[in-house]
Amino acid sequence: MNALLSVVYLVATITFIVGLKMLGHPATAKKGNYVAASGMGIAILGTLLLHGLVVPTMIYILIGLAILVGGSIGALMAVKVKMTKMPELVSLFNGFGGASAALIGLVAFGSQLADATQATTVISGIVIGALTFSGSIIAWGKLDGTFKSVVNIPKRNLINNLLLLGIVVFAGYMVLSGQQQPMFIYLLLGASLLYGVLFVLPIGGADMPVVISLLNSLTGIAAAITGVLYSNMVMLVGGILVGSAGIILTIAMCRAMNRTLLAVVFGSFGGGETVEGEDRAAGSITKTNAGDAAILMNYAKNVIIVPGYGLAVAQAQHVIHELEELLTKRGVDVKYAIHPVAGRMPGHMNVLLAESNVDYDLLVEMEDINPHFSNTDVVLVVGANDVVNPAAHNDPSSPIYGMPILDVEKAKHIIVNKRSMNPGYAGIENELFYNAKTAMLFGDAKAALTELVAELKNM
Ligand code: TAP
Repeated sequence: MNALLSVVYLVATITFIVGLKMLGHPATAKKGNYVAASGMGIAILGTLLLHGLVVPTMIYILIGLAILVGGSIGALMAVKVKMTKMPELVSLFNGFGGASAALIGLVAFGSQLADATQATTVISGIVIGALTFSGSIIAWGKLDGTFKSVVNIPKRNLINNLLLLGIVVFAGYMVLSGQQQPMFIYLLLGASLLYGVLFVLPIGGADMPVVISLLNSLTGIAAAITGVLYSNMVMLVGGILVGSAGIILTIAMCRAMNRTLLAVVFGSFGGGETVEGEDRAAGSITKTNAGDAAILMNYAKNVIIVPGYGLAVAQAQHVIHELEELLTKRGVDVKYAIHPVAGRMPGHMNVLLAESNVDYDLLVEMEDINPHFSNTDVVLVVGANDVVNPAAHNDPSSPIYGMPILDVEKAKHIIVNKRSMNPGYAGIENELFYNAKTAMLFGDAKAALTELVAELKNM
């Protein structure tokens, strides 16, 4: 590799690290994305122009076409996608990353492997890339609603773990025996694709965040392996960064869902689908209206707002900020309670509220805010459901049992805004809605909050 290309790769690597660091805070996240993306652009250009290999012009044309077509489709998808559909897009992109790694591995396998080290690299790239691809496509379909949210496969843990063991043993045999027959690699490819499908299919709705970040991390590992294969430093570092950031995120998500990483990988995931009617929370509900809710909040000493997926769907982040400012001006202490898996992607609520310039200091993480609910006059839950479901504490048969939740039921008054009594993502009933302290403010979040703000202004 020539010296200039090394410098280009070094610059690109630095932009990845700086960009990743900037992604850690909502105020700098957007710029961080641009920084890392420019680094990737520099790395691609550097590779194309400075690699020093003599390549037919036709190859350049094909690469240019691939960048043009792929780049345009990617840019169009990213611009058009709704914030609430972002996890689906991330899953698709993860899948494509895995597919690229598997395809590169197949090409490398076809051109004779030099030794066991190279065989290990190529074969693990194919296995990880293939299962990431099929798993991500299933995750995309489940998030999108194209596939059923949970598919119960009898003895799924046993089957999956045996299949995984089979893949590892077979891959080990291929490396050690120097086996290079195409039929063998296609068999391994098929088994890996199947494992990805079987791994993600039975996973329960509320556990999907963990799976998405795990697949994300696997994409990084697959890219890093490809970097090793081609001795390409920038690809290796980029892959390692994605892989390690993904693993850190996976562990954080595991903690948020009260799962262990081993349980995620080897089964015993909370995927049991609740039988319809089985979890009907008993009792009657109390309805409220914007006027009464406004009075309650206006005379409260403190209010905690709990944003959820519905806030994002309704795009009510600006009006919730207006409500918060209005209450603060009237001397009410207002905070936002942020559950780590509220919404449909990690950090969803932080990103959403940052968009409407909510002061970052007002966003309080779950473990810090939970002790304060018992001293809180009013909690306003907006479009959140699973993350405030007390079944996580009280009902061992619930698929979300053990998942840490926001303890809103401890507050003096609870106002819940949603459109109907429909369940949230995990598909289960919520006894909070039947609590004697809870009043339901039905309606689309944007419309209901706009009315609430108007009532407050009139007071
Ligand atoms: P959910 O439990 O999904 O509940 C959202 C609620 O918002 C629904 O019950 C819905 O009720 C209501 N809603 C929808 N549109 C609305 C609108 N326009 N106006 C007002 N309300 C509206 O959300 P959550 O509490 O934020 O929990 C997140 C769930 O998603 C968890 O189960 C989590 O595991 C899962 N998940 C999270 C992630 C990450 S990483 N955050 C990724 C994948 C899955 P109505 O239909 O009655 O309005």
